[in-house]
Amino acid sequence: MTSVLYTDISSLVTNDQGLELGLLGELKDAALVIENGHISWLGSAKEAPDADQKVSLEGSSVIPGFVDSHAHLVFAGNRAEEFAARMNGENYTAGGIRNTVSATRSASDEELDENIATLAIEMYRSGITTFETKSGYGLNVFDETRSVRLAAQHTEDVTFLGAHVIPEEYAGRTDEYVQLVCGEMLESCAPYSKWIDVFCEIGAFDYDQAKVILQAGIANDLQPRIHANQLSASRAVELAVELDCASADHLSHLTDKDIDLLANSNTVATLLPGAEFSTRSEYPDASRLFAAGITVALATDCNPGSSFTTSMPFCIALAVREMKFTVEQAIWSATMGGAKALRRDDVGQLAVGKSADFVVLNAPSYLHLAYRPGVDLISETVIAGTSIHRSNK
Ligand code: NIG
Ligand code: FE
Repeated sequence: MTSVLYTDISSLVTNDQGLELGLLGELKDAALVIENGHISWLGSAKEAPDADQKVSLEGSSVIPGFVDSHAHLVFAGNRAEEFAARMNGENYTAGGIRNTVSATRSASDEELDENIATLAIEMYRSGITTFETKSGYGLNVFDETRSVRLAAQHTEDVTFLGAHVIPEEYAGRTDEYVQLVCGEMLESCAPYSKWIDVFCEIGAFDYDQAKVILQAGIANDLQPRIHANQLSASRAVELAVELDCASADHLSHLTDKDIDLLANSNTVATLLPGAEFSTRSEYPDASRLFAAGITVALATDCNPGSSFTTSMPFCIALAVREMKFTVEQAIWSATMGGAKALRRDDVGQLAVGKSADFVVLNAPSYLHLAYRPGVDLISETVIAGTSIHRSNK
């Protein structure tokens, strides 16, 4: 059993509230020790114990690895032209998803797998150490099943999103498609999935349909989460709370009633600033959520239509500049908030016994993630004690 001491850390974000050092539990002049992929000690560099190996971080700062609780990585092709058309005045609609469905159905397993791997590497380079990914571009039993099967080779947080939109061949037969999703498709996808999600929206699935689908997932031991109020206000938040969804995501259109409902629930509010950015939509105001005491997560929503980014630092910068997060709230939401949205307590914070998932920043503190937008500050990404990305400076 080899222990490694990382020392000379100018600022260490722990997210450990027990330290009574603010929201981020920030230690200055710190060190941490890793053993067997977990943190075995952390504290002041001066008091650090001996270890088998010693690594000086030379005054860099360290934060917990980002936890990206909302991504759609299983797809082929891209929709750059749709993006360009939007920047020329077109609106975003759920219908664009069907273009990616055609490309995904035509792709081989190898192509899809390579696409997931490429995006996962991009994520590691942006400091993400845990990510969720959804299916949702197959929309038939065969292609949804291979989507979740391939996704499961890359993450334990796989979400079955057969209810993304109604595929072309079911146009006008929504109820039949809902039956397929709740029956044969769910049965085939459940063994590879931990979560079930529905896009509850005009042009996708309404409250009643979403409820039937999520309940079918729950009956098959999947845990629910939901795309809620992205393009319009609806009853999706009500449904999220009713079914104890781990997270309600997007929330671009929120009523006061929705805020009350979330405040009295265990459902995390996940905001996805990349989607507002890429669809040129109005950003939701996170300060309303924080004022109500709601747990907020930040995620990339990486997908080829509405948010083709794997950069959590970009999302943090947007959240701070456009959504009224403080920098501390944005860092917390991209780490601990994401972990809570995935109902995981092994990641998202740096404390004894937690997974040694952390990011070394080429900056004196976490503040620089928002202060220096668009600049790559990720010097090293470590997952379970193993370095998986190092910038070549
Ligand atoms: O989260 N809203 C639904 N799903 C994705 C968009 C998918 C797409 O446009 O391909 C989202 O924004
Ligand atoms: Fe999404």
